[in-house]
Amino acid sequence: MDRYLVFGHPVRHSKSPFIHTLFARQTQQELEYGLAEPAVDEFAQALRTFFDQGGKGCNVTVPFKEQAFTLVDRLSPRAKRAGAVNTIKLTDDGVLLGDNTDGAGLVADLKSHGVTLADSRILLLGAGGAARGALAPLLAELPSELVIANRTHTKAQQLAAEFHDLGPVIAQTYEQLAGPFDLVINSTSASLQGELPPLAPALIHTDIAIYDMMYGASDTAFISWAKQHGARQTMDGLGMLVEQAAEAFTVWRGIRPGTKQVLRELKRNLGVI
Ligand code: ATR
Repeated sequence: MDRYLVFGHPVRHSKSPFIHTLFARQTQQELEYGLAEPAVDEFAQALRTFFDQGGKGCNVTVPFKEQAFTLVDRLSPRAKRAGAVNTIKLTDDGVLLGDNTDGAGLVADLKSHGVTLADSRILLLGAGGAARGALAPLLAELPSELVIANRTHTKAQQLAAEFHDLGPVIAQTYEQLAGPFDLVINSTSASLQGELPPLAPALIHTDIAIYDMMYGASDTAFISWAKQHGARQTMDGLGMLVEQAAEAFTVWRGIRPGTKQVLRELKRNLGVI
C-alpha cells in the first residue's frame, strides 16, 4: 500500500492522519498515512530513510518546513516563494519535489467562507513563516492593497520588499495602521502565549472579516477579542488545515477530495460541534 506521513515535532496531536484517511476513503484511494516525530537534528536522516523504504510522499510541519526546503531535489514555484516546504512528493522519475500548499489552503478556505479578495484591502498580522507562505497566493487574488504589520517592523519591511513584484504590498507599524480594512488575517503565534497582537480596537468594524490561522476547541484569543469589538464574520484556521491537506492530497494522487464533509467530521472529532 502507498505510504504517506507527516513529519513534525511535536506531531502526536496532528490531525493530518485523520484528514487524509477520510480523503482516501472518499476518493477510494488505497493508502496509509502515519506520523513521524524525529529529533530535531535527525529530520534529514528520517526523511531519507522514509523515501528509501518506499514512502510516496509526506507532509512537513513545525519545526521542519524550512529544513525540508533545503533537502528536496526540486521546488515548486510556490514553495520557492514561501521559503518553506510542507508537502513532498516522490515523482515517478525518482525526484523529491517540494511544494507548499499552506497559502493555497488559506485562500481556498477564505473563498469557501464567501470572502471576496479581489479589490479588497487586507491586513496581514505577523511576518514569520506563516505570513510568508500566505503572501503570494493572497496577492494572486488581486487585492487593492495588502498591509503587513509586525511587532518587529523590519521583518515586515523585508517581506513587503520581497513580494513587491507580485502586487501592492506595504509594511506599516501597528501604530501607523489606518482603516478601513476588509479582512484581517492573524498569522502571528501570539495566541500560543495567550497574547494578542497590539491592534487598535477602532480598526474592527461590523463588516470586517477576521481570520485567525490558529484554531482550538473554543474561540482563539484573537477571535474573541475581534467579536468583542463588533466583528461579525470570524474564521479560525481549521478550514485552512483541511484545505492545505486537500491540496497536498491532489499533488500526490492527482485527484481532488471534497473538504466540506471532512471539515465537519474534524470539528466533531475536536468537539467543536
Ligand atoms: P510562524 O512560522 O508560525 O509564522 P514564526 O516564524 O516564529 O512562526 O513567526 C511568529 C510571528 O508571530 C512573528 O511575526 C512574531 O513577531 P516578531 O517577528 O516580532 O517576533 C509574531 N508574534 C509572536 N508573538 C507575538 C505577540 N505576542 N504579539 C505580536 N506578534 C507576535
